[in-house]
Amino acid sequence: MEIILASHAGFCFGVTRAMDMTMEAAKNKAGPIYTLGPLIHNPQAVNKLNQLGVDVAEKVNQVEEGTIIIRSHGVPPKVIAEAENRELELLDATCPFVKKAQNTAKDLYESGYQVVISGDKAHPEVAAILGSTNNQAIVIEDQSDFDRLSEDLNKVGVIAQTTQSIDNLKEVVNRLMEDTEEIRVFNTICTTTNERQTAAAKLAVEVDLMVVIGGYNSANTNRLAEICREVGTKTYHIETAADLSQDWFDNISKVGVTAGASTPNWIIKEVVSRMEDIKEEENTIEEENEELESENTEEVEEEVSTEAEQGFEEGEILTVTVKEVREEEVIVETAEQAEGIIPAKELTTEGVDSLTEVVDEDEELEVEVLTPRNEEGNLVLSKIARDEEKAWEDVEEAYESGEIIEAEVTRVVKGGLVVDIGLRGFIPASHVAIEYIEDLSQYVGQSLRLKVIEVERENNNVVLSRKEVLEAELEEKKEEIFSSLTEGEVIKGKVTKLVDFGAFVDIGGVEGLLHISEMSWGRIDHPSDVLEEGEEIDVKVLAVNPAEERISLGLKQTLPDPWEEFIKNYNEGEVVSGKITKTVDFGAFMEIEPGVEGLIHISQLSQRHVATPDEVVVAGDEVEAKIINIEPNERRVGLSLKELEEKEDTSSQPQPKKDKKDVEDFIDDDEGSGVTIGDMFGELFEE
Ligand code: F3S
Repeated sequence: MEIILASHAGFCFGVTRAMDMTMEAAKNKAGPIYTLGPLIHNPQAVNKLNQLGVDVAEKVNQVEEGTIIIRSHGVPPKVIAEAENRELELLDATCPFVKKAQNTAKDLYESGYQVVISGDKAHPEVAAILGSTNNQAIVIEDQSDFDRLSEDLNKVGVIAQTTQSIDNLKEVVNRLMEDTEEIRVFNTICTTTNERQTAAAKLAVEVDLMVVIGGYNSANTNRLAEICREVGTKTYHIETAADLSQDWFDNISKVGVTAGASTPNWIIKEVVSRMEDIKEEENTIEEENEELESENTEEVEEEVSTEAEQGFEEGEILTVTVKEVREEEVIVETAEQAEGIIPAKELTTEGVDSLTEVVDEDEELEVEVLTPRNEEGNLVLSKIARDEEKAWEDVEEAYESGEIIEAEVTRVVKGGLVVDIGLRGFIPASHVAIEYIEDLSQYVGQSLRLKVIEVERENNNVVLSRKEVLEAELEEKKEEIFSSLTEGEVIKGKVTKLVDFGAFVDIGGVEGLLHISEMSWGRIDHPSDVLEEGEEIDVKVLAVNPAEERISLGLKQTLPDPWEEFIKNYNEGEVVSGKITKTVDFGAFMEIEPGVEGLIHISQLSQRHVATPDEVVVAGDEVEAKIINIEPNERRVGLSLKELEEKEDTSSQPQPKKDKKDVEDFIDDDEGSGVTIGDMFGELFEE
């Protein structure tokens, strides 16, 4: 039995284009994707798209968000407007030939012509063309429709549904010419339809049986089946290989196969393959019965033996060597020295001027067998299919092992970033970084280190996270820093944030706290008095607590100690000037040098009786005082104003009580390490 495929069958240009646009959208667009009505009249192909996440919406108002794809039939302008009003992303896959018919109808209508459409009223393509004329066109489907035309037509413009037969169009035009003053006819019938119908009719004449493949709801497939029957050949219309019945082929020598414009190639391949199986089974029976041997059987045997010699199977992975780079294909040789072809579209998805930009002669490639033998007997291979399969294998392996992969960000989409991992990978916005990122466009073109967190091959879905990589790295860095930091060492850091109680300092990926009290030897009101965010500083590690992940830092400890300078430069009995920083019940503090404060005890404020220090001084006063004692070990300076007053006769006045107890109590508690008297009293007496 010989199987002959019609010279024009299967997907037309418009359907291929719509299918490619939809597959591309399924790969690259985030958010839900819908086709407005089934993309093509083929339930298997629609199912396949559904598995890739493309749903069918019958009306625009069923779609809340995402992308809506206009199929090759097109839609009336009001549907486009509605989608735009709902702020949906619109992907217009209207076939350019249909678009042309719509535009012609619109121009005619706007130029005052009565537009007449020769076509099927219920067909969505016709509804779309009708919409272009503000629904003013008249559709002629059969004789009764002529009655709707007015008797005296001045100007008529005629167009046809793209799949209409030329005979129908001629009939409509002939009828109109009887009563019309001016008639303009536009043959908008798609040549694809004619080619398929002519090829089907021609083939049907040559064969014993025709098999027409395509959706039962596809008008053009039904028409192909009708045409084959009209030439008198037994014809079966099927949707898939499962519909074939072995007994149809009993005593059949030649079978013709054709397919409607909305039938995918893979369905045609499956049908032909199933018919070849039937053919092989038949051959086996015929071999057992020598009387039934025929010429067709010999041809089949020859083909089968060729396949057996080559031994390749569909889906098999081969390593091949490039022998010749042609304009449209690359010729390769397998290890068994069989010749194979990689068509340009199976070599690269990049738009290149020449295939030499992609491969060189003698280069070795890994490829997948698309078909061990096409109609011309060639072994057809695909590098794209192999690369894609390999990309899936790599991504699944990375998912299993938790391995970090690198990928370049190609674009920003709603809700995240798209990266190229040989496939389309998606990083949700919440996984781009540890912190929230407002503007994701900064990452486009960057290569990011990523972890695969979700893989669904059946839905073409790979989700990645950069945040998880960064968090793991931060954890590692923390451990490293905590184990290497030593209390007392001086390290470099960068001020990341100022707060009222201090500053956070980045010391190499981990932040430590620099408390306000550790910033300066002198008194400061706010951390911004000494630091600013982004500033790089040396800090001393005061304490490390790995359990609580806390690091305390000191800045003043890296600066000269003003107390040491003070001891070197000042002596008891000397008169010094300074500012009163604070008054307390038992006296007043005066800053002698930044970071060094002395206490003027209440008893040293005046020769006269002083009930509260504020009677003599208040904070901010500039005064002169005499140093009456220096206690280096305790870091204390005692000052006196009284001793600078001229000696007064105080015998008649009550003597101030020498109330040192409160001070001494405090002094007993003092541990005296690295703080000024001012700091200590300040803390103790602050309200
Ligand atoms: Fe377009 Fe012709 Fe196909 S009009 S959709 S290429 S049948």
